[in-house]
Amino acid sequence: MSRQKTTIASFESISPAEFFYRNRQMAGFGNPTQAVYSTVRELVENSLDSCEDAQIPPFVGIEILSDMADTVTISVSDNGTGVPSEQVPDAFGRVLYGSKYSNRQKRGTFGLGVTMAVLYGQITTDSPMSVHSRTQGADGLLYRLLVDVVNNRPIVVEKKPQPRSEEGTTVTVTLKGDLKRSQDRIIDYLRFSTISTPHAKFHLNIDDKVDLNFGGFSKTLPIPVRTSHPHPRAADVELLRRLIQQNCEKTLHDFLCDSFQKIGTRTATKFLRFMNLNPSQIVGELKREELARLGTSLRSYDGFENPDSKCLSPIGKDDFLHSVTSLLNASMAYYSIRGPSEWQGNPFVIEAVLATGDDFPRSDIPTLYRFANRVPLLYDSSDDMLVRVLKRTRWARYNMQTAAPVGLFVHVCSTKIPFKAAGKQSIASIPEIENDAHHLFMELGRKFSKTIAKSQRSARDAKKMREFAKAFRQIARFSTALADHENIPSTENLVRKLFEVDSDA
Ligand SMILES: Nc1ncnc2c1ncn2[C@@H]1O[C@H](COP(=O)(O)OP(=O)(O)O)[C@@H](O)[C@H]1O
Ligand SMILES: [Mg+2]
Repeated sequence: MSRQKTTIASFESISPAEFFYRNRQMAGFGNPTQAVYSTVRELVENSLDSCEDAQIPPFVGIEILSDMADTVTISVSDNGTGVPSEQVPDAFGRVLYGSKYSNRQKRGTFGLGVTMAVLYGQITTDSPMSVHSRTQGADGLLYRLLVDVVNNRPIVVEKKPQPRSEEGTTVTVTLKGDLKRSQDRIIDYLRFSTISTPHAKFHLNIDDKVDLNFGGFSKTLPIPVRTSHPHPRAADVELLRRLIQQNCEKTLHDFLCDSFQKIGTRTATKFLRFMNLNPSQIVGELKREELARLGTSLRSYDGFENPDSKCLSPIGKDDFLHSVTSLLNASMAYYSIRGPSEWQGNPFVIEAVLATGDDFPRSDIPTLYRFANRVPLLYDSSDDMLVRVLKRTRWARYNMQTAAPVGLFVHVCSTKIPFKAAGKQSIASIPEIENDAHHLFMELGRKFSKTIAKSQRSARDAKKMREFAKAFRQIARFSTALADHENIPSTENLVRKLFEVDSDA
């Protein structure tokens, strides 16, 4: 009996644009509602990043127009740096191309967001997107672009000079989407962005029916973030190999001092002695096994300090408290921060505000509002690491079950946020971040509990004081009558003194 031949599979490679075209849900473009929301979000993120680069208070205008056939045109304008003319086609028409791959906190991460919006617009409406931009010292230019999906390349449909009064960028994308269902999300996104970027102002217009202004809670700009050297705990073989390529002539001692943060001469000497490595070894001559051993040693040595936080931009106590209490009706608010720490060598800081007030739903645990690198996260909360930590924290210990409605605003900032997917909506479980979040929540719980206990105590004291005052007045009245006097002396001071002593004890 002859055996049937198996067919030989055919192999091929696809471009990154093709990959995201096929798997658009991974980038937050899974359905028409998400597509509208993600387009606004990605364009606004880029605008805010750009204004921070230019060190100017952001003013971002979002204009949305729709028709009966669910064609939605989204246009976002900013007063940022603008995009250099020669970079426009690749920045907007090539997936995984961007200017934000350096080791510092940014909203953009993958070089993917805006091109996904362009791609989605193109496949649903067959129309090109437009970029109108002007950089310092240049004239305004207008581009109209499409993406060549198969080759991951931009197609320039049109390029022409177009005056623009100020530097900045306007990006316009037309797509098929569900504006009705995404509208509230967009408004929420902008409202919460005013908490994480309190120095920004936003103007939203939707079909001339919605016209809203948001933000401007802070006049101060954040301190500019600086790109930093990698932390030694980020040293895997690949990173070491790349760093050595640029420094192959150096000795191991000098290489460590020049390539990593938190390694000075003293630390390098101590580390090399402890690990029994030769400080004068030329790094370019290290063998494969030696490189692997160096990497393991750098990652496991516990004598390195925590990372530098100059590459991070937390919101900060004053701005965070002020923006939460400006946006929402909060009667009390507390702030705490932890870090800088690192996960796999990536620096991170986590800060939070716990607030009580009528705007928060009543529950036995706080309502969570998540932020990552100054971006509010509104989707996919159920499997987020912060939600798990929130549920793990025993809030009842902190007087929470009887308390007023409470909101917990948590901001994680890092040179690398461990997002679960390219849509950047939920944070994966990383033990170091989880642990810091847990301690932060407990610290805020204690602050909350202390205030509640204090207010319960002061309510009890006030009641006691009223009773004492009444009794003292009676005693004074009887004593006056007994002594045959006419004027009843005041006992107010006596009672006050009694409670002053009591509260000092
Ligand atoms: N409004 C803008 N102003 C300045 N540069 C922009 C703007 N929008 C996009 N860019 C540039 O385009 C690049 C690609 O954007 P994007 O695909 O959203 O990726 P990412 O933001 O993750 O880098 C950015 O890195 C940035 O250099
Ligand atoms: Mg982006």
